[in-house]
Amino acid sequence: MTTTLTLDNDYELSPVDPRLFGGFAEHLGRHIYTGMVEPGHETADADGFRTDVLELVRELNVPIVRYPGGNFVSGYNWEDGVGAVESRPRRLDLAWHSTEPNTFGTNEFMRWCEKANTEPMLAVNLGTRGADAARNLVEYCNHPGGTYWSDLRRSHGVAAPHKVKTWCLGNEMDGGWQMGQKSATEYGALARETAKLMKWTDSTIETIVCGSSSREMATFGKWEWDVLQECYENVDYLSLHVYYGNRDGNTPRFLAKPDSMAQFIDEAISLCDAVGASKKQTRKINLSFDEWNVWFHSNAQDKKMQPWQVAPPLLEDIYTMEDALVLGGMLITLLNRADRVKIGCLAQLVNVIAPIMTAPGGGAWRQTIFYPFAQASNNGRGTVLRVGGTIPETKEVGKKFALAAVRSEQGDKLTLFVVNREMTETLPLNLTLRGFGDGASVTKHTVLQHDNLKARNTEAEPFAVVPREITGASVTGETLSARLPPASWNVLEIALR
Ligand code: AHR
Repeated sequence: MTTTLTLDNDYELSPVDPRLFGGFAEHLGRHIYTGMVEPGHETADADGFRTDVLELVRELNVPIVRYPGGNFVSGYNWEDGVGAVESRPRRLDLAWHSTEPNTFGTNEFMRWCEKANTEPMLAVNLGTRGADAARNLVEYCNHPGGTYWSDLRRSHGVAAPHKVKTWCLGNEMDGGWQMGQKSATEYGALARETAKLMKWTDSTIETIVCGSSSREMATFGKWEWDVLQECYENVDYLSLHVYYGNRDGNTPRFLAKPDSMAQFIDEAISLCDAVGASKKQTRKINLSFDEWNVWFHSNAQDKKMQPWQVAPPLLEDIYTMEDALVLGGMLITLLNRADRVKIGCLAQLVNVIAPIMTAPGGGAWRQTIFYPFAQASNNGRGTVLRVGGTIPETKEVGKKFALAAVRSEQGDKLTLFVVNREMTETLPLNLTLRGFGDGASVTKHTVLQHDNLKARNTEAEPFAVVPREITGASVTGETLSARLPPASWNVLEIALR
């Protein structure tokens, strides 16, 4: 069956905020220790950072990284992670039942960000702590000097302020698994007072308030309404989190899950705007999708983990070809909601439900999900165009395919990201291109596809699933035609004149 859709150069949805392609680094499992930092590793630099990992992070081109949690932040004393490393306390981390050595903290993270060519996005602890510790951290990070906390930073060898712009007000505060779980009105009031003090300390910062920790929470909707009633005026973004899994082995249903992510976003927008309307506010609250990924492979093995280890191998999902298709679908959803989703953080970056894996003392390699993320991050900056027409649906997979179109910032390139969800059928894609002038031509069509949907990349076989270029896509007159292999992630690059 042939599907014809239309793209019109004037029919813009929104510019893409580059922060849509952010990442997340938590003190969890081997993310920090033996992931980002491993003194003595053959690739370690003078700071002990693994340069093989830094190279891969730069390849992903993540403009912002959320830190230090996640659930971890709800029990974190940020003061434990600054100053002389030898004097830092080892602590029990109750979020992940691990031992935290605190040899990596705020200043190390800032240095790592510089080397990774990214910006920090910090979360403050609103579980076991509150507004006072949060405003002190803003002063420590962002105030130039001449006060207790800023001079403490300077005494730690960091003269220039870090200028951290984006701050998360706690993490998943509605969850029973969270240290210091709160009711919506308790949390909303705490978020308001914390944001107020943080912004009084540095008026240039932006704050993100916790939405429900997932759409499946019984209180989803009411939580957002009650929290935002308390703090709408003091926050800039509402956070959303989602993780998908193929627990029942139903691949078509799994591939369709990114469509419910779109619904989740639409519902969150409605909730923000309803509270704004009830308060006669014209300023909109935008969305920060600051945790999203596939996460289920490691659930059973994690239940057997011995507690209180330093950097235990937790949440080490090894991703398959089909996971990469779901991740690609999620990226398409984020792009098609770029008018309101301004920040996205793939959770996470290294070893922990991550595109990058490492072996302690060994190599670093790209998981299957690395490729759609890297390709979208590197080709998806610019302006998202609306797609005209209707994508046909089947009972099995819902929409037969998912598609997003981004015109580059310079206007000289159009990139299409397409997931063909049909398991056995090649998709003949026909797209009418309007208003792009003469001479549009397909310069590259890459495909991520594997006959075995369970194929994965491992240290022994790191290139089992990699993108390849195919030919045959073309533009004739106003029509772009391409054939997309079954169960594939596609990136079509079109030069515009
Ligand atoms: O990313 C892993 C965990 O998932 C985070 O710590 C938490 O916020 C979420 O539940």
